Amino acid sequence: MNFRGIDIRWRAPVTDTELAALTQSHGGHAAAGWWDQVRPHSLGWVSARLADGSLVGFVNVAWDGGDHAFLLDTKTRPAYQRRGIGTAMVHLAAQRAKSAGCEWLHVDFSTELRPFYLDACGFREPDAAGIMNLYSLAVTR
Ligand SMILES: CC(C)(COP(=O)(O)OP(=O)(O)OC[C@H]1O[C@@H](n2cnc3c(N)ncnc32)[C@H](O)[C@@H]1OP(=O)(O)O)[C@@H](O)C(=O)NCCC(=O)NCCS
Repeated sequence: MNFRGIDIRWRAPVTDTELAALTQSHGGHAAAGWWDQVRPHSLGWVSARLADGSLVGFVNVAWDGGDHAFLLDTKTRPAYQRRGIGTAMVHLAAQRAKSAGCEWLHVDFSTELRPFYLDACGFREPDAAGIMNLYSLAVTR
């Protein structure tokens, strides 16, 4: 789809190098090979590109193979933020997840992004949700 001159697409090719550059553009840590590792587990992803092909936005949708899809790694290049690109990408991701047969789209985010996910993108707060950091969990054998 064309959104204000930005080409926003589902499952269009995106390289690991492009995603590393996009991540670094907003100060994020980019590990080489990350996207090549993650992509096989993705239901799909949305890319946003300028007319010259430059990648300015991305969001990934992971999937449980059934009713649940998970929105991950939403990012818009800083110089292009607050123009509606993030919202447009999330809406396309939600539509494609629904088309794939999913009933629920999950996301978690830090408090300051409530206006983005809840107000702009249309997520609602769950009745309850939990998250566990597994890094420090002792592993029993
Ligand atoms: C979060 C992010 C993807 C939003 O992308 P975006 O293209 O700027 O989003 P939109 O232009 O569609 O924003 C729509 C509305 O959401 C809200 N919003 C967007 N970014 C926001 C932010 N950083 N903080 C608070 N509200 C925000 C605003 O209400 C905005 O409308 P406004 O510009 O008229 O005020 C972008 O800020 C980003 O890439 N951040 C760095 C990476 C990150 O933190 N990703 C989230 C992982 S959970």
